[in-house]
This record gives sequence, structure tokens and C-alpha cells, in this order.
Amino acid sequence: MHPISFVGAGPGASDLLTLRAADRLRSADTLVWADSLVCPAITKLVPERCEKIRTSKMTLEEIISVLVDKQRSGQRVVRLHDGDTALYSAINEHICMLTDYNIPVEVVPGISAYQATAAGLATELTIPGVVQTVILGRASGRTGVPNNESLSRLAALKASLCLYLSAHYVEEVQSTLLEYYPVDTPVAVGHRVSWPDELLSVTPLNEMTAFTRKHKLLRTTLYIVSPALVSGPQRSCLYSPNYNHLFRPNL
Ligand SMILES: C[S@@+](CC[C@H](N)C(=O)[O-])C[C@H]1O[C@@H](n2cnc3c(N)ncnc32)[C@H](O)[C@@H]1O
Repeated sequence: MHPISFVGAGPGASDLLTLRAADRLRSADTLVWADSLVCPAITKLVPERCEKIRTSKMTLEEIISVLVDKQRSGQRVVRLHDGDTALYSAINEHICMLTDYNIPVEVVPGISAYQATAAGLATELTIPGVVQTVILGRASGRTGVPNNESLSRLAALKASLCLYLSAHYVEEVQSTLLEYYPVDTPVAVGHRVSWPDELLSVTPLNEMTAFTRKHKLLRTTLYIVSPALVSGPQRSCLYSPNYNHLFRPNL
């Protein structure tokens, strides 16, 4: 029996899939995919014979029942999630239930939206002397976040802050962030990054809400709030002529 493959689809473009993810898709008999989140272009990689099942209207129990049936009938099953499997993918609840059925799984990671957004802007989020920490988080919203991970606590670090699933709450988010970051802190706004209709731009923090509303962004939108987005050419130690290390000892 084949394990069920939980595959990260990456942000959208099919050439941003890992080779392993593409391999699992090309040999799938059944594809169970998060159609409200995954770019449809990715699903074209499966063979013609492959059955495609959309999960946007299904409950977890219904999804698990399909996964179990298909796997037990000897099929190669791919459960496809957007971005990376480690972030807001709900794979944990799937895997816990499948473990109860003794079904083996494998997880194939993907490129996350924050990586695609930073790359799309040709930026690094960790600039020496400016910011050395990246936070991946979200506004509280309907799901809620633990109190010790409130947006205020995250913002107080003034790190590179990547916010998933937060466009619905942008007004509240902007006002909280303005208590900590300067008004002109750049905010990268990525909507459907790497999809054919991608929107990718940088706006000052005090215009984050106006920008979001103007472009009617609600779903598939990621924000990166970061002083790194405007920093000048700060040098790292790694490539400094005055910094010696194992591979470049004192000359
Ligand atoms: C359910 S979460 C899944 C995140 C995903 N696992 C990841 O690693 O990117 C969905 C959220 O991810 C972000 N997202 C995913 N793909 C995106 C893309 N192509 N462009 C912008 N944001 C994206 C948005 O914040 C969206 O609301």
C-alpha cells in the first residue's frame, strides 16, 4: 500500500513546485485538493486517469473517508494544500485521524507565500544591523490566536512580520501595527503571488488598509511588514573582508 502524500503546492506557479511534489502529482491516481486555495494550474500536472476531488465543501470526516477508501484500494493518493504544509494547512488534524486508521503518510513541503512574496520583490527579510528575525503569524479573526501571540506582542519586536489570513481584518491590523512600527514602514502586499493575475506591491504602513480596499483584496493575500524592505546596502559579516572564518581563514 502506498502512503498518502500530503503535498505543498507552493504559492501557485507550477514551476515553483519541488521536484518531489511534481513527481507525486504526476503519479497520482486520486487528487484531493483544496480548491479554494490552490492555484488550478497545479492540478493540470496529474495524469488524465487521475480522479480529482475538491475539498472546499467537504468536512474533515468526509475528506478522511475518501482518503482512507482510496488508499485502501491501492491507489496513490495526493492530498494537496497551498504553499507549505507546515503553515495553516490543517495537515495535523488529517494525519491524527489517519493514524487512527493505521494509514501511513508522507509530507512533501512547498514554498510558502511569504517566500514567494519576498522573492517576487527581490528582497531579503533579514538585513544585518536592521532586522534578523522573521515572524510568521496572523491576525486573530474567527479562528483566534493564543493570547501570548497577540498581534501587539508580535509587533512589539519590530521584526519582519509576515501576516497570513489577515486581509479581512486589515483596519484593525494596521491600527495595532502603527502603535509599534513607524508610519512609513514598508508593507509588501502580495495577492495571488505567482498566479497569472498576481498583484504585488509595497505600500507605507499607514496606507495598508486603503491599498487593500482599493484593490478589493480579501482572500489569498499576504502582508510583510518590514524595515528590511527599505534598508540600504548593509553588509553581512559572512562576506566581509575583515571577518575570518573556517572557510576563509586569516590571510
Ligand atoms: C490557509 S493559509 C495557507 C498558507 C500556506 N500553507 C502557505 O504556506 O503559504 C492561506 C493564506 O496563505 C496566504 N497565501 C497563500 N498563497 C498565497 C499567494 N499565492 N499569494 C498571497 N498569499 C498567499 C494568504 O494569506 C492566504 O490567506
